[in-house]
Amino acid sequence: MPDYTFTVNGKSVSVALDNEETPLLDVLRNELGLMGTRFGCGLEQCGCCTVLIDGKPEKCCAKPMWSVAGKSVVTVEGLGTPERPHPLQQAFLDEQAGQCGYCLSGILISAKALLEKNPRPTRSEIAAALDDNICRCGSHNRIIRAVQKAAAQMRGASA
Ligand code: FES
Ligand code: FES
Repeated sequence: MPDYTFTVNGKSVSVALDNEETPLLDVLRNELGLMGTRFGCGLEQCGCCTVLIDGKPEKCCAKPMWSVAGKSVVTVEGLGTPERPHPLQQAFLDEQAGQCGYCLSGILISAKALLEKNPRPTRSEIAAALDDNICRCGSHNRIIRAVQKAAAQMRGASA
């Protein structure tokens, strides 16, 4: 049974799998108990399974484990904690930027990747960065407002 070693939220982990095509999402949820990353379509279409892989936002519902070995993965659990939320998480709470919340872990990850590259994104740049993340509840206006708020807060914190 091959072993796959990779880093999740800063910790090195190894998993033994019968099938090297097992998707990263299944490993995160079923082997590692990281339930924040969601299963939606399973077809790389909706974005709710987005995680960072070596710093890039990627959908992981069909990402085979063999392609992840040796890489660094960040999930929504790696952003912050209830006691110490990431500024994005706090802004999403402040703006109540979601209804059912199902899409939000993927959106938070995509937004984190955006703000790392571009600390002062325009509204249309935020919309473009989140274009692969579908929100079925139509919370887009609040989501964009929350990303703008977090960006301002993070710029203030680093000023
Ligand atoms: S569950 Fe992965 S893109 Fe929809
Ligand atoms: S808040 Fe329900 S899918 Fe986005």
